[in-house]
Amino acid sequence: MTTTETEPTKPRVFSGIQPTGRKTLGNYSGGFRQYVSTQETGDAFFCIVDLHSITVDYDPAELRESTLDLAAMLFATGLDAQRSTVFCQSHVTAHAEAAWLLSAVTSYGQLGRMTQFKEKAEGRDFVSAGLFTYPILMAGDILLYQTDLVPIGEDQRQHLELARDVAERFNHRFGATFRVPGGVFPEIGGRIMDLQEPTKKMSTTLSSEQGAVYLTDSPDGIRKKFRSAVTDSEREVRYDPDAKPGISNLLEIMSVATAEPIAELERRFADSGYGTFKDAVGESVVELLTPIRESYDALRADERELQRLLGVGAEKARRVAEPTIEAMYDRMGFARAAAGRLFGAARPRGL
Ligand code: TYM
Repeated sequence: MTTTETEPTKPRVFSGIQPTGRKTLGNYSGGFRQYVSTQETGDAFFCIVDLHSITVDYDPAELRESTLDLAAMLFATGLDAQRSTVFCQSHVTAHAEAAWLLSAVTSYGQLGRMTQFKEKAEGRDFVSAGLFTYPILMAGDILLYQTDLVPIGEDQRQHLELARDVAERFNHRFGATFRVPGGVFPEIGGRIMDLQEPTKKMSTTLSSEQGAVYLTDSPDGIRKKFRSAVTDSEREVRYDPDAKPGISNLLEIMSVATAEPIAELERRFADSGYGTFKDAVGESVVELLTPIRESYDALRADERELQRLLGVGAEKARRVAEPTIEAMYDRMGFARAAAGRLFGAARPRGL
């Protein structure tokens, strides 16, 4: 007698992060920490989105370095190369191809409504076409892998909505081809704010040096930044993002760093002055980031190993993306050269 056991399929997890700019505590909260927790539950792909990084002014020599910096940081924060596929977007040409094909089913009007586009375009002399079409590339990233779950911070919610719309429009126009993905957002810390301007998000590109905490900041640098964080004149440690954005942000940061509920922190610091509270938040972040920085330094020192790991990741990613890009061409009516079909009639996952 034979028994066939069917293993339940794990959800496919996909997320991307830009290599340019120093990564912040915001990236940790909405990005890195969620990547590590989702890798435990799913078949996970994490992509260093270097093609996205050329949409604003950048330095080519720096891009090469910062790609390896980010690979090291992804492993330092806990991604395991045995379990997760970590790779570089430009190593898998299907990403650029998918972006062009999907531009046929993306609405120009919807792209113009993207908050990130408006924010990043504001006040610039030169606004690249890539900054405008950026969400199509991101939609392709996600859809190529038949993704179920996308761990991201709140600032990427609108882009994910667009990716879902694009998937649905393509499926409707050309036949069922893509899974329609859902987002995974942190309950606390989905939008970490700038320490100096707590009504704006902490950002790699738009925050000041004092406003952002970088994952590679020194312990003393971190303490200083928290000591000078902007609060309010009330002297009451209470969570109320509308009335008290500075203090609420610090409560969220400490909750992310220590995994303690915000209500618990409010109770603990009810009778403390702001100075004591800010020092405690700074110290909790130092404790969180010290082992990460040490591990990062060790991993970053071995470039060949990082390159090797990215090579292994790219190979796996190419294999997984191939059936979807082929199905896209096929359903859109492109005549494919038989010899060019690497994987012949392979069908996208689940279809
Ligand atoms: P990026 O590189 O700006 O940010 C990477 C991740 O960090 C999160 N994040 C934050 N979370 C909380 N508070 C903040 N202040 C904060 N700042 C950044 C972001 O939400 C993100 O999850 N377009 C994306 C990259 C991308 C992508 C993808 C993501 C490209 N393709 C496919 C998911 C799926 C971006 O620029 O993220």
